[in-house]
Amino acid sequence: MRLPVNEESRPSKRGRARAILAGTMLPLALGALPAAADGDSLADKLADDIREGKVSVEGDRAAVSELILKRNLPIPYSYVETLMRTPNAFGPGPACIVCHSSNDQAKSYRGLDLSTCDGIKAGSTEEPKRILFVPGEDPKKQVLGRRLRNNRMPLGVQFNIPTDSAPIVAIKEWILAGANNDDNYKTNIQKLFTTANTFGPDTPACTECHMSNQEPPSFHELNLSTYEGVMLGADSVAKGVDHATKVIIPGEPEKSGVFQHLVEDRMPPGIDPTEDRDHPNTQILFAWVKQGAQCK
Ligand code: HEC
Ligand code: HEC
Repeated sequence: MRLPVNEESRPSKRGRARAILAGTMLPLALGALPAAADGDSLADKLADDIREGKVSVEGDRAAVSELILKRNLPIPYSYVETLMRTPNAFGPGPACIVCHSSNDQAKSYRGLDLSTCDGIKAGSTEEPKRILFVPGEDPKKQVLGRRLRNNRMPLGVQFNIPTDSAPIVAIKEWILAGANNDDNYKTNIQKLFTTANTFGPDTPACTECHMSNQEPPSFHELNLSTYEGVMLGADSVAKGVDHATKVIIPGEPEKSGVFQHLVEDRMPPGIDPTEDRDHPNTQILFAWVKQGAQCK
């Protein structure tokens, strides 16, 4: 199985884009500009920024990040509507509305209607009912963001593997009971993280990829090989121990990253985990949410 590529390990793609842009597009753009842009239109400000070298060119997503996201262009709902109706919009797979088209739970998974603005904002209407995001807030850690960005664990596990298997239920109950370092943890729970094929056939142990607080080799500096590591959480070196991302919230499995990553499939179902988690359209959709999820 191929692993998702880290930012650092993508020099060739990025380097190539940079070379292309440096060699052709930027000088062309500069040459085409008037000596000084003095208006306050978006295009004038961009021209000034390019002249002052403020527009950084990072790979082939530069247009979205530099021209749309950084300038906080208002994202019209009509674009979001198009995204939901378009195959491969967030990575290979059918359009979202094929499977989420109405509140009818017999015809639409989770009674989730992604075909209308009100439906998107209402979220899942089947129990457990839930909204996908809070308008005005970053949806990255909310249901919408998790379903578009987070791969189910162990990485590579197929969506047809049940999410209520005995090991998953045992972890859920351990978190519900307070996530203590008790006999249950020592005898039954810890080994679920360190044993291969626990969460599906031919799946690696969690600790194959999360074995220490150092990345590389441990993804997200997450150490699932000890109780202390599990409770410390992710990115404790990059963010500092006090700001590490907690992956266990005692008493609250639904809010615990470990549980979420065991039961939530990335959308569209079956998408390869190596597909870009920060797809430009995902970022544009998130921008629409952060701007208040306007329906016009
Ligand atoms: C081929 C069918 C299919 C497609 C296409 C699909 N989904 Fe799903 N989706 C499902 C199924 C099945 C579930 C429920 C099972 C699960 O939780 O994984 C689900 C669950 C969800 C949930 C979780 C809702 C909740 O209450 O937890 C969200 C959010 C979601 N999908 C969004 C999307 C988005 C956005 C797209 C487009 C990128 C998409 N889906 C495409 C089948 C699909
Ligand atoms: C083959 C490598 C691999 C295996 C095995 C694996 N993971 Fe991961 N894990 C990753 C990668 C890569 C990420 C980065 C995010 C993503 O792809 O969604 C990640 C992210 C996570 C996160 C999110 C951390 C954060 O920053 O919030 C959690 C929690 C997690 N994994 C738990 C587990 C659990 C539990 C298991 C075992 C059931 C497991 N992982 C098995 C590679 C792996």
